[in-house]
Amino acid sequence: MAELYPVSEEWARRARVDSAGYDRLYGRSIADPGSFWLEQAKRLDWIKRPEIAGDWSFDEEDFHIRWFGDGKLNVAANCIDRHLTKRGNETAIIWEPDEPSEEARRYTYRELHAEVCRFANVLKAQGVAKGDRVTIYLPMIPEAAFALLACARIGAVHSVVFGGFSPEALSGRITDCDSKVVITADEGRRGGKRVPLKANVDAAAAHAPAMETVIVVKATGGDVTMQAGRDVWYHEAAAQVPAECPPEPMGAEDPLFILYTSGSTGKPKGVLHTSGGYLLWASLTHELVFDYRPGQVYWCAADIGWVTGHSYIVYGPLANGATTVMFEGVPTWPDASRIWQVVDRHQVEILYTAPTALRALMREGDQYVTATSRTSLKLLGTVGEPINPEAWRWYHDVVGGGRCPIVDTWWQTETGGHLITPLPGATALKPGSATLPFPGVDPQIVDAEGQVLHGAAEGNLVIARSWPGQMRSVWGDHERFFQTYFTTYRGKYFTGDGCRRDEDGYYWITGRVDDVINVSGHRMGTAEVESALVLHPKVAEAAVVGMPHDVKGQGIYAYVTLNAGVEPSDDLRNALRDWVRREIGPIATPDALQFAPGLPKTRSGKIMRRILRKIAEGDVSNLGDISTLADPGVVQHLVDTREGRG
Ligand code: WT7
Repeated sequence: MAELYPVSEEWARRARVDSAGYDRLYGRSIADPGSFWLEQAKRLDWIKRPEIAGDWSFDEEDFHIRWFGDGKLNVAANCIDRHLTKRGNETAIIWEPDEPSEEARRYTYRELHAEVCRFANVLKAQGVAKGDRVTIYLPMIPEAAFALLACARIGAVHSVVFGGFSPEALSGRITDCDSKVVITADEGRRGGKRVPLKANVDAAAAHAPAMETVIVVKATGGDVTMQAGRDVWYHEAAAQVPAECPPEPMGAEDPLFILYTSGSTGKPKGVLHTSGGYLLWASLTHELVFDYRPGQVYWCAADIGWVTGHSYIVYGPLANGATTVMFEGVPTWPDASRIWQVVDRHQVEILYTAPTALRALMREGDQYVTATSRTSLKLLGTVGEPINPEAWRWYHDVVGGGRCPIVDTWWQTETGGHLITPLPGATALKPGSATLPFPGVDPQIVDAEGQVLHGAAEGNLVIARSWPGQMRSVWGDHERFFQTYFTTYRGKYFTGDGCRRDEDGYYWITGRVDDVINVSGHRMGTAEVESALVLHPKVAEAAVVGMPHDVKGQGIYAYVTLNAGVEPSDDLRNALRDWVRREIGPIATPDALQFAPGLPKTRSGKIMRRILRKIAEGDVSNLGDISTLADPGVVQHLVDTREGRG
């Protein structure tokens, strides 16, 4: 029996949705989705209110996904303008700088309006028009939020590239979506270190011929080279334009943003989200899952470079008129108390973070937590990977003092927002379970043949019907969208996750079942790391698998076959790890790298990843049937020379 944490009386009383309320909402959303979603759509401010809700088919013959297709709105106006009369002087964004001795900055909704209008006018002055793609490569500074909303205001499609990605990764993303304008900063700051963002853009330029203009925000004042005719200082351009810019009327299905994410094959794909359905999903989930109340300070400690930052730092909270905290730094700098100090400083009531951060802090010891007050906290959330019950209990007991429910939210870049999650006033919690589907979400567990399993069961997780926040396409490759998500199980969206449903109908995500590794809550495709490795002149072949990692959840384990005549060495191992770090970014750095004279392959030449995973896990007692291998001897050699965990 798993532990059960029932909803407290106080929460059942005060929350927007209690247990009976959840049953009602969920029941209606499934029985009558059309009227349910048209009703929910009223939470947005429409230029033209939609009369059609979902219009979709996951079948090959008639494949399409549309929500509120006849509606018109502007996302930025929903996040800013409509709050001005009632909440213009309330705080929209609290920005907490990397350096704790610096003052935090606050922007009211009125100030946010002026900043976003100005940014939008700068983009227009640089020739950006509705439908154009703009790449945003910024640190966690307020301008990052302004830039997203400025694009939304004029109908440009933003593509945010995480500041930790390399010039190589950046140029690939700029080129894929053909973005002529890139927004960056001189440098970023994280944990007391500087990140040379502008220099990275300069380096990316050689492989990004589409890029014509670089708008540079002065963030640190660090040295940069400005290229005449291409580079523009943001503060200079902003001084030339007015702080008023009318929002562009957009169709609900007009693209809002592209966000690149790793899959099991090929290059990262540009996940495309559109305007109406996405914003509705971000805003509704933010309100119900976090039980957000006007006036509360809410903090999602993610980076804007990931979907969590898009939906739960910017779009969801601002659409709800919330006060959202943006944090430039990292949880462990200057020491492991930082998050809790920020909570106290800004009286944060709702905190949303990742299991990997909790595990990193947990092992530093409770004293970093208990030295702070945290009495403002009411609700805690996690996202990104399954949370181990030990970290869950620590979060609940030590961080939350046993007072705060934990919402473990399962979702993906593709889903736009939460799909399986507790509602704090409605759902009894089980540590490690994302619990129950959000209204409108129809999860199923299927076996390898696609048979739907009922009751308590374990298999692969699919979603049987569309929801408004669903991605609409892979940028530039609609066929790949269909092939990737809708062909494994016909007529259903395949999540790529394994999942167990228990006797109470609770869902337990067991992790990816495809060749995707979840490193610190971020997705890394094994194929991507392999391609980076084989680009090295000394490497003949590479195979990459995930391995258990105490803090990151999963680490990256690489098997590398060197070219004939090249000798393995520790120096070469370090050089190869550095190489991957430079090709993709620090998050892709292999935690372990084993030189392998041969890889286990079938007679038809297919690498047996199952065996490589077992060796990486250190689980070599039961490698299964290896008799079908072309050369079973390579397995013993790999076992004997296995890398200690990095
Ligand atoms: C994958 C999606 C969703 C924003 C951050 C990651 C894993 C995510 C949970 C959770 C268990 C989780 C899944 C999913 N995942 N949240 N609460 N419990 N697993 O977004 O990079 O698109 O990754 O993260 O494996 O498929 P992403």
